[in-house]
Amino acid sequence: MGAVLSAVAVEKSFVAESRRLDILRGVDLVVKPGALAGIVGASGAGKSTLLHVFGGLDKPTSGTVAVNGENIFSLSDDDRSRFRGKNTGFVFQFHHLLPEFTALENIMIPTMIAKANPTTAREKAEGLLESVGLKDRIHHRPGKLSGGEQQRVAIVRALINDPTLFLADEPTGNLDERTAAEVFTMMAELVKKRQIAGVIVTHNMKLAGLLDAVYELHDGRLNAKA
Ligand SMILES: Nc1ncnc2c1ncn2[C@@H]1O[C@H](COP(=O)(O)OP(=O)(O)O)[C@@H](O)[C@H]1O
Ligand SMILES: [Mg+2]
Repeated sequence: MGAVLSAVAVEKSFVAESRRLDILRGVDLVVKPGALAGIVGASGAGKSTLLHVFGGLDKPTSGTVAVNGENIFSLSDDDRSRFRGKNTGFVFQFHHLLPEFTALENIMIPTMIAKANPTTAREKAEGLLESVGLKDRIHHRPGKLSGGEQQRVAIVRALINDPTLFLADEPTGNLDERTAAEVFTMMAELVKKRQIAGVIVTHNMKLAGLLDAVYELHDGRLNAKA
């Protein structure tokens, strides 16, 4: 089966205070449907930068990133945004849910951006919330949810448009150990069940057993970890 994510020779440099920082120095990664790759690495190694490049949020200095065979950085900025909205789901360490909206409304926002039918979208959002154990929380605002519940909502929001690529940046970094394990397990199950490709940046090596491959980002390159 073809790869969902195929990154080749990705380099990324930043210029800060007239100094050039070479953060990514030739990253290659292939992730197939149903596979979950983990990325570990020191703080400042470039993990978030790499995830942003995979998600089309940040342009690499050189190299290519293909998602479902589409070379995303050969698209115009508008086309790439649209492509990302359809094909990529993102989860961050802090949930980034909108505080004034309920769980259900937060999840429906990406469907509105994608101009989906509101009735169908609502049913789908309710079904997804139910599937992650939040049936009784759909009308709660984020402030009334626990950290684990907030992350579940963020994960459902990332999946509502049926992306083929799921990217999560330290999604359990803010949770206690037990909740982290529950949320991590849930993400791994969703990736398998939906046969999407997942890349998770994590510090939690206890959960590495749930990953199909673990890579360390070091000196701007990904090395497979034994
Ligand atoms: N927009 C930017 N401009 C300049 N430097 C940046 C920018 N974004 C990230 N960096 C630098 O790149 C390095 C990697 O950052 P990041 O990807 O956030 O690392 P990690 O997620 O592994 O902790 C850091 O040194 C950071 O300061
Ligand atoms: Mg980071």
